[in-house]
Formats: sequence, structure tokens, C-alpha cells
Amino acid sequence: MARHLITSAIPYINGIKHLGNLVGSQLPADLYARYLRGRGHEVLFLCATDEHGTPAELAAAKADKPVADYCAEMWEVQDRLGKGFRLSFDHFGRSSSAQNRALTQHFAGRLHDAGLIREVSEKQVYSNADGRFLPDRYIEGTCPNCGYDKARGDQCENCTKQLDPTDLIEPRSAVSGSTDLEVRETKHLYLCQSQMRDDLNAWIDSKADWPILTTSIAKKWLNDGDGLQDRGITRDLDWGVPVKRGTKDWPGMEDKVFYVWFDAPIEYIACAQEWQDAGKGVDWERWWRTDKGADDVTYTQFMGKDNVPFHTLSFPSTILGSGEPWKLVDYIKSFNYLNYDGGQFSTSQGRGIFMDHALEILPADYWRWWLLSHAPESSDSEFTWENFQTSVNKDLADVLGNFVSRVTKFCRSKFGEEIPEGGSHGPQEEALIAELTTRIRAYEGHMEAIEVRKSATELRAIWVAGNEYLQSAAPWATFKEDPEKAAMQIRLALNLIRLYAVLSAPFIPDASAAMLSAMQTDDDRWPEDVTEALDTLSPGHAFTVPEVLFAKITDEQREEWQAKFSGTRT
Ligand code: 2FM
Ligand code: ZN
Repeated sequence: MARHLITSAIPYINGIKHLGNLVGSQLPADLYARYLRGRGHEVLFLCATDEHGTPAELAAAKADKPVADYCAEMWEVQDRLGKGFRLSFDHFGRSSSAQNRALTQHFAGRLHDAGLIREVSEKQVYSNADGRFLPDRYIEGTCPNCGYDKARGDQCENCTKQLDPTDLIEPRSAVSGSTDLEVRETKHLYLCQSQMRDDLNAWIDSKADWPILTTSIAKKWLNDGDGLQDRGITRDLDWGVPVKRGTKDWPGMEDKVFYVWFDAPIEYIACAQEWQDAGKGVDWERWWRTDKGADDVTYTQFMGKDNVPFHTLSFPSTILGSGEPWKLVDYIKSFNYLNYDGGQFSTSQGRGIFMDHALEILPADYWRWWLLSHAPESSDSEFTWENFQTSVNKDLADVLGNFVSRVTKFCRSKFGEEIPEGGSHGPQEEALIAELTTRIRAYEGHMEAIEVRKSATELRAIWVAGNEYLQSAAPWATFKEDPEKAAMQIRLALNLIRLYAVLSAPFIPDASAAMLSAMQTDDDRWPEDVTEALDTLSPGHAFTVPEVLFAKITDEQREEWQAKFSGTRT
């Protein structure tokens, strides 16, 4: 039994996540966590909300709520939706926790003591009306290049030219619209990550088994000219982790907070403390400190490709720079983007399907299956309603659901609601067992390599093998000449239902639970040996015919949903 620490990128607090966010980190992380638990490993699976930064402040202002209240409410919402999608976090924390505040300040103190932090004086735009400094992208004005009147201080959306706020004609605050702006001098802390380039390069080079998507992004930032610049880790905001060195004040930094990307990954560690403090576990350092037992932990992170630089360069700089024995990530699984019906999912534009709306129309398993079996691994992928309908109707309803329904109903009508006795395996059964053995070992290999699509394809093939067996064994025909043989066939098929429940649980946990409960067993042991696994439910064991596992999506429903989700979220 091995020990696995798994984290999913922590979603921003400012709004409900869309299905593209879900499939880019939380959902595949959940798949992996469930699989490893199913194989008997010890797993700590953590996620949290990412609560600091200007976006949180602005979202709270828009909702007309104090930012702390807004975050507390949105955490509840995200927690509820995560549970709705059956994300099996051992703890869903908050980056605004007291634990993260203390740990973030602790890291800053260590980095300071190691000489890895320097102070830099900068000129920044201050809004008198708002009483605050404005980040570049919260200053709007007219683009000097193309004349677009809603250009942002960092870039013009219209002509894509990169800008400085001072380039804008008639600049104004995006917060209040005020033009009463001035440039003021302000001091910030910079993390000297450029000093760590060699260490980081060597570390990335040692990760030959990482997905190309991960290493290519890391290498690009490490070696492309100005990629690994020293980075500002403080901001002039009210909301965030106050800047301190450990527990001591940091002279000149009294009104500042740490940059959200500095404290967010530290929450992966703090979250383990939160997990312990919530009474859900003990000895959190066993997962995070290599001097306290974490050297035999395998640590895997899941994230979208835009998050890769922060996890391959910034966060490792924080950890390495601290000089303390924190666990470094062993494997980073990153994802491309999921598009929606010919365009992009967009939170700001409310385009696509969001987690709350998805669960209002269909149960979690339908979404989990489609999203995971179409995960954007080697390239971006696209959600279309036609594809979703086909996938649900074929894979889930026709292949898996239909198998379960035919087998249980046939047995009930001919033998009653218990596993029938008689007969023994012949060549057809042996062939099926051989095929399943090969496929299950392949499935395990793909799951262990976190090849999400390949795992789904193999699982579907395992379901298909059962259907094909049923079709050719045809117990309804056998029954007429040789009821004993039909009993053996159907006994095997009923055992297959239990086996399918176990294998499918990481993808479709609710359907799996329904299948186990129909088989009236809680024996969810992984099939190390297929012959033995198909002999688990013995003659006389009672079962029930389950409700329809998966309802087909009709053309009317598809059209209705397509229309309903074609616009923007209201
Ligand atoms: O992209 C995002 O949603 C970020 N909130 C992810 C942060 S992951 C981490 F580093 F904590
Ligand atoms: Zn422009």
C-alpha cells in the first residue's frame, strides 16, 4: 500500500465554475483519487477555494457584500456543487484560512532570511476617489494605437497591443469610473526566483515522465529570455494575507497583502492542516514534511495549462527557497481547454454550462462520464450537445445500463431474485475471462498513468465485452434446452454487474453504488483475479432489479437544453 497526496488547482472564489474548469482539474483529480483508494492505497485528496486578489474584491463589490461575507457564501456554494459532482475531497479548504495566513507569512519570513526577497520601488496609479492603488487591468481608457475606448491598462482588447496604464488617453478607474487618478510611488517585495533557475532547470530535467504539455510550458518560461524574472509578491490591496515575516511586522509593508498567486499554492499545505484541525485526520506533516514521513508520499497535482508556470516555477521557488524539507510535487498532470459549442467557455461572459445548471438538468454521473471520456488531454476538446447525447445514450444507456437491466430482469423472470445454481464455465466463459483480464490490466495501466481518455475507452470496452458475451451466450435461448447452463451464464453475468460497479466507480460513483446495492453487496474488492471476482456472489445470494440506471436523452431534451444554454448566463 502506497501513500498518495493529490491536489486539484484551487478554483477562484468569484463565481460558479463551468464544466471546462471542472474537467481541467477537480474532476480528473477525483477520478485518480477514487481509483487509488479503490486499489487500497492511502490517499489524501485536497482542494480549496482561492479567495484573495482583486477579482474577489470586485465580485464582492458587485454583489454589494463585504468581501469576507461574499467569500464565505461562495465557499458554501462551491462546496455544495463539489459534493453534487461527487468530488471526494478529504477536505475542501479556504485560502483565507488562519492556517494559510500563518504559513504564507512563515514562508515569506524564511525567503527573506535566505536573502531571496528584495524591495523594489515602483510607480503605480492611485485613485483618489476609490482611495486605493489600481492594478493595471483596472484602469481603462482610450487606446493610443487604435482608438478603442475601453482599452485596459495592461492591454488593448481590440488591437491586442500591450500597454502601460500611462499610455492610455483619458484614463479612468474601472472600479468607479473616476478620472481623479495620480501616479504614486509604492514599495513592493520581489521574490528572486531568477536565482533559482539552475535548481529549477535540474528539477524539471529530472522529470522525464511528465506530460509534454507540462514540461514544455515549464521549459519555455525557464529559458525563453525573460521568462524567469523576479516577481512581485505583494499588492496594495485590503483583502489578502497581510505582509509579515513570520509573526513579525515588515517595516514599510504595513498596508500591503501578499499577491494571490503567492498564497494560493501554499494553501495546498495549509489545507492539510485545516483537514487535521477539522478533526478529519491526524499528523498532517506526515503528508508534507519529508523529515516527518512524507518522503514516501507520491504527490500528484492536477491543473489547467494556464496554471503550469505557477506550479513548475513559482511554487517550487517558494518551497526550495525556504530551505525547509517540504515535499515537492512528483507528477503534474495538466490539461488543455474544453470549448463549448463552437466557442470558448467563459466565466466573465457567462458562456457555456455551469456546475449548478448542469446538475439541475441531469445527475452527476452523466456529466462525469462525458467530461472524463472527452478530457482535453492531447489537445483542446469541444462539448457539443449532439456528442453529449450520443455518448450518454450509447455508452451509458445502451451498453452499461441495458446490460444491467437485461440480466437482472431475465434472472428474475426465470430463476427469481437470487443468484441461480448449477452448471460450470465452458470455453465461452473462459474466453470472456481472458479478454477481461487483459482489458482490466490495461485499464489499470492507463489509470496509473493518468491517461484519462484511454482509461475511459478501456472501461467502455470492458462493458462491451459483457454485452457481447450476453448476446452470444443468449441465456434466454439456452434456457429452453439447458436451464443449468443458462443458470451458469446468468450467474456469471450477475457477478459481472458487481465487477462493473467496482471498475466503474471512479468514473460514475452513483451508478456504481446503485449496482452494488442492487446486487445487495458491499463487497467492492478490486478484481486482482477475474475468475475469482466472477465467483464472488454465490448461488442463493439475493439481488434486486435496479431502477433504470441511465435514461436516454431525447432529441427534444437536447434541443431544449441547446437553446437554453446558447446565450449567456443570467
Ligand atoms: O486558475 C485558477 O482557478 C487559480 N485559482 C488556480 C490556483 S491553483 C493554486 F496554485 F493554488
Ligand atoms: Zn487598441
